[in-house]
This record gives sequence, structure tokens and C-alpha cells, in this order.
Amino acid sequence: MRELLDAFRQVTETSAFAGGPFVARFETEFAAFCGTRHAVGVGSGTDALWLSLLALGVGPGDEVITVPNSFMATAEAISLCGARPVFVDTDERTYTMNPALLEAAITLHTQAILPVHLFGQVADMDPILAIANRHGLPVVEDACQAHGAEYKGRKAGSLGGVGCFSFYPGKNLGAFGEAGAITTNEPELRTKVQILRDHGQAKKYCHSMIGWNARMDGIQAAVLSVKLSRLAAANAARRAHAQLYDELLADEPRMVRPTVSENGTHVYHVYAVRVQDRDEVMQRMATRGVNCAVHYPVPIHLQEAYRFLGYGAGSFPVTERCAREFLSLPMYPELRPEQIRFVVDTLKESLRR
Ligand SMILES: Cc1ncc(COP(=O)(O)O)c(C=O)c1O
Repeated sequence: MRELLDAFRQVTETSAFAGGPFVARFETEFAAFCGTRHAVGVGSGTDALWLSLLALGVGPGDEVITVPNSFMATAEAISLCGARPVFVDTDERTYTMNPALLEAAITLHTQAILPVHLFGQVADMDPILAIANRHGLPVVEDACQAHGAEYKGRKAGSLGGVGCFSFYPGKNLGAFGEAGAITTNEPELRTKVQILRDHGQAKKYCHSMIGWNARMDGIQAAVLSVKLSRLAAANAARRAHAQLYDELLADEPRMVRPTVSENGTHVYHVYAVRVQDRDEVMQRMATRGVNCAVHYPVPIHLQEAYRFLGYGAGSFPVTERCAREFLSLPMYPELRPEQIRFVVDTLKESLRR
């Protein structure tokens, strides 16, 4: 707490509220953490996705391939560029983009591929990157739920051309408000996002592009620097909690536990099990004092806002089944083993006989 108060004091004393030295310091630290040459702080994860796509030249008439099993912002960022989201279904084990379905979705209009590292597990990037390279397409990682997750020894955000992160307060690395970042090894992309986040100006009042106000707050950057130093420990705590959930639920045949791919490490932003009659189970758990969540009850292709895309029920069977069955159990670093035992006992009592 003292470190956080010191961070507030330093920002206040220097009035470095919008952009500035605290943002620059956090960018250096976060790039080092992710193993990339650059990081650029922006206003949110949505900004990170949107500005990355804009910087890659995505615009009207283009298509960007992503998954319907994500938070709305993934598709929204594509739409904000004037492009069209094209969905492919997810893998039933990892809940991330199924690479076997990717190539068939590529058309002459495809401009980028946007896999999502859902729940804290990195998508199967090698086959995705191989297909992208074959077609000369950039890959933007939606790493908004995967701070510190690894794939074959490399961190989320360092695998594609760009990584996009959210520091929304509930994330594994959360600010005290809204914030986000992009990570990249490409100096040109970094510069372009730096210009776009600041009204398209590289020099004060000289606007070479039409951008936006998507700068990161100094206070958020200072808080994030303090919290970044504890991220590895917090992720390790989440993994230990997940292991205990796994052990206690191992003999429970009425549900599906999360699968960790042999390719990497999971950081359990969300610990989601799959159960039948999910809404009833969740309700019974709530009456016994355990509040769960659902990420996400309606897949993006079935949202009213995306009806115009023309997808319907049955378009993406894995995603739709998961949306009916997902139940996110409590997961945060401060959980105690007795709380996890209570959650598991309550879940077992609440499942259909
Ligand atoms: C997968 C995913 N993508 C994008 C976002 C958007 O991030 P933000 O809320 O910081 O704009 C989120 C955050 O909720 C997310 O979970």
C-alpha cells in the first residue's frame, strides 16, 4: 500500500497526469516483462486492439478473422476500423481459436488474424502463425486476459506482430481505472500507435493522421509499475488455486474442468468449468453464498449488434455449447484454500443429481 501511495504522490507532485515519464517507465518495464522491444500505453484494451488494427492499415472493405467466444471488444475493435469481423469456431479443449478452421475463412479481403488468449491461456500460435505467414497476414494477439501466460517458453504478446493488453481493474494486471497497452518488436508499428493515441500528432499541433485521445494516465502507469513487480507471484497464486480446484474436482463426473495445453502455462484470469443446467446450478450456488460468473453467456455472433453479419444459432457449435455450459468459479490471488474447498463443496451440492 505504501508503494502505491508513493506512486500517487510522485505523479501528483510532478503533475504528470496524461502520458509523461511514468507512462514511459511502465512501457519499458512491460516490454521487458513480455519479452518485446516495445510497449505503448493506451487508454484501454479496446484502444489497444483498435489502434493496432488501424496501424496495420485495416479499414473499410477489409475482413479480420477472430473468434466469437470472447468479450465484445474483440469484434468491436474490428468494426471501429470500418472492417468486418469474420469468425471461426474455438477448440473444445482450450476454448481458443481452432487453427484447423482458420484457412477456410481467409478471403481476398482478409487483412489480419486476431486470436484471443481466452481465460489466461495462449491460443495455439504455431499453426496460426504458419497459416498467417503463408498468406502474408499480420497476427494481432488479444492478450487482454493473458498477462504473463506462456506458449512454448514465450510470453503472450510477443508471439504475433502485435499484442494487445487490458489493465481493467479485474485483470491479472489491473490498474486503478481504465488502461491498456500494445506490445511489438516493430519500431514502425510502435511509432504509428504512439501517433494514433495522441490525435495523430507526432509533434504538438502537427497532425499527420486522424487519431484519437487514447493516452494512458500517469496515475495508472505508476500504479501498474508497482503491481507489475508482483504479477509473477499473483499468477503463481492463481495457478496454485487452479491446481487445488482441479484436485478437489477430479472425481466429479458431472462437469468439465479446464484443460491446460501442453504448449504453455495458464494464468487463470478465469477458472471456468462446464456444467449442464448452468443457470440453475449458478442460482443454487448463489443461494448457498457462492457467487459465480459467466464468461460469456451470449457469443458475439449471436449478439443483437452483430445480427447484420448474418450468422445464426448453430454457426459455431463449440462456442455456443460452451456459452450454455461455462461457469466461472471464484478466482483471484487472495483466495484461501478453505474458501476453495467451500466453493467446491457448494458446487457439488448444486449439481443435478
Ligand atoms: C478478451 C478481451 N478483449 C478485449 C477487452 C477489452 O479491454 P478493455 O475493457 O480494457 O477495453 C477485454 C476486457 O474485458 C477482454 O477480456
